[in-house]
Amino acid sequence: MAALIDGKAIAAKVKAEVAEGAEALVREFGEEARPNMTLIEVGHDPVSQKLVGMKAKDCEAAGVIPTVISLSAATSETKLLRLIDRLNRDDDVKAILCQLPLPEHISTKKVLAAIAPEKDVDGFSARIDCDDYDVAACTPAAVMRMLRENGVDVAGRHCVVVGRSNIVGKPMAIQLLLNDATVTVCHSRTEDVAAYTRMADVLIVEVGRAGYITADMIKEGAVVIDVGMNYIDGRPTGDVDFAGASQKASLITPVPGGVGPMTRAYLLVNALKLAERRVGKETDAERKADHE
Ligand code: GUN
Repeated sequence: MAALIDGKAIAAKVKAEVAEGAEALVREFGEEARPNMTLIEVGHDPVSQKLVGMKAKDCEAAGVIPTVISLSAATSETKLLRLIDRLNRDDDVKAILCQLPLPEHISTKKVLAAIAPEKDVDGFSARIDCDDYDVAACTPAAVMRMLRENGVDVAGRHCVVVGRSNIVGKPMAIQLLLNDATVTVCHSRTEDVAAYTRMADVLIVEVGRAGYITADMIKEGAVVIDVGMNYIDGRPTGDVDFAGASQKASLITPVPGGVGPMTRAYLLVNALKLAERRVGKETDAERKADHE
């Protein structure tokens, strides 16, 4: 029977670290150095609204000032791009997040590209060689932390990522490679996905289909990370058949209470890093370089 990877508990620890970092920044550079985050939501999708509300609440608890901008679903792409341009140029705005998905008439690619990299709190524009010390894509950074906190070293292990989205699958594969894993990425065109997942020491799944990964697709003793978040009758459910998978895995994340809270916690980590950079505070990356 698998042990649980408790995302909620690790997230609480990460949030406390950010809160401490935010206060240290304010002590050293004054209140104007405090991290902040502008969250944009377009449309009134209840799930997105709930998530944005949770992100804003997380900010408040960690000493990061949130501002939520709610736009109607009919907002044009031009209007949204203009808003982002204004926020990019506003010196008081330190971090920008545009909640996805966007309505179909708006190009996600254009909108994400419009957010200035120095304010991109999601870490979507992170460099391909970014490591733990940089502003990295939140979900992959969160997953790496969950593995570390549970004593899982991916170096030399076979990690299989199912899903190739720009915000999870692709940056996840890169983070794993940077940590010396052997990586396989499966996707909607992969023939016989189970043949690969059965070889995974660490299996990370983000396909958006409830219960997609069944027990027979998992190697005995594998570590299973479920990034999926599907709603069935209003109840959140992951991409992994949790009951079955728990019989095979050694460690597994629950949904809810697994990756979700950790992704949100890493948004706060990024918000703090962006605020630190603005006051020229030596970042972790620079401290690390100094010691190399
Ligand atoms: N929608 C679902 N997950 C995410 C995320 O990580 N960032 C943003 N901006 N939108 C999302």
